[in-house]
Amino acid sequence: MDTVIDIKTEEMLKVENLTKKFLIKKQKMPWQKKKYVHVLNGINFTINEGEAFGLVGESGCGKSTTAKVIMDIYSPTTGSIKYNSTELTGLKGKEKKAIRKDIQYVFQDPMGALNPRIAVIEQIYEPLIIHYGRKGHKEYYKKAVDLLESVGMKEAHGKMYPHQLSGGQRQRVVLARAMILEPEMLICDEPISALDVSIQAQVVNLLMKIREEKGITLLFISHDLSMVRHLCDRTVVMYMGNIVEFADRETLFNNPLHPYTKSLINAIPIPDPRIKREETILEGEIPSLLHPPSGCRFHPRCPIAMPECSIREPELKILPDGRQAACLALEEGVKS
Ligand SMILES: Nc1ncnc2c1ncn2[C@@H]1O[C@H](COP(=O)(O)OP(=O)(O)OP(=O)(O)O)[C@@H](O)[C@H]1O
Ligand SMILES: [Mg+2]
Repeated sequence: MDTVIDIKTEEMLKVENLTKKFLIKKQKMPWQKKKYVHVLNGINFTINEGEAFGLVGESGCGKSTTAKVIMDIYSPTTGSIKYNSTELTGLKGKEKKAIRKDIQYVFQDPMGALNPRIAVIEQIYEPLIIHYGRKGHKEYYKKAVDLLESVGMKEAHGKMYPHQLSGGQRQRVVLARAMILEPEMLICDEPISALDVSIQAQVVNLLMKIREEKGITLLFISHDLSMVRHLCDRTVVMYMGNIVEFADRETLFNNPLHPYTKSLINAIPIPDPRIKREETILEGEIPSLLHPPSGCRFHPRCPIAMPECSIREPELKILPDGRQAACLALEEGVKS
């Protein structure tokens, strides 16, 4: 089902040349070398106001790291993150607090995001106390109950502790908490991966409802392309810290170009067994980020790899139909 939300073209979040490396081996002696793992290698995308933007890719490709850098949980190694034209990196004090309130992050693991010893209702309104102080306690409670109900739960659930709730309910609590400061943007990091299929669909529908009701801008992170197809207007496909393709829903799902995107889409189960499709099954393991392949990082698993692919790294290029893709086979003058 396509959403009927009017997407404005005003840029809301602009990520430019974002890189992130983590130190994995310290220099204990002067002759020893520090060792880094390069997790993001120059990520660029722009999320427009009101849209649902998808970020997909297999486990370990850097989706959560991208979100965590946007959320200032990690500082970027290089690059810029602008929110409504304000640079977020290096922002401090009151200004930072004010902007940070507008972007909320729903963590991948709802159990880890909740305190096991505090009743969930208190955890839902806790951000209000942090931002506005303790004064409006009664109002906070009421607002939290309203939100709990808007995510399909009851006031009685609020008195419970996280372990007394199901995985789907915990995910709803985390969503309600993220909504309490009335953010303009919500970053949902695989909110559904730990849940079973029917609950996944419920959470996605809930996100669509939240979007419709509150006009919220969404960055939806997932490795499940069927969910992304359902929810997202435009999507970035990541592989080992790089963007390999970026397109709107129609283009990406009806006419994927990058061999990696094709294989991800081919892996989506089709409910009707009579429908046959081109098989491009993804083979092999994702290589280690510590020893990334030369040239195009996807080439060892790519069904159409050419000799040049192991030598030259493809750039993310804008194609005539407006999408972006990074693949030498798609570049002009290079035949696959
Ligand atoms: N703090 C850290 N220190 C060192 N390496 C890290 C750190 N955080 C993430 N990584 C590495 O960065 C890579 C990307 O991790 P990330 O969590 O961003 O992946 P992901 O795309 O969200 O995967 P998943 O789908 O499993 O959630 C992984 O190889 C991970 O081991
Ligand atoms: Mg992740």
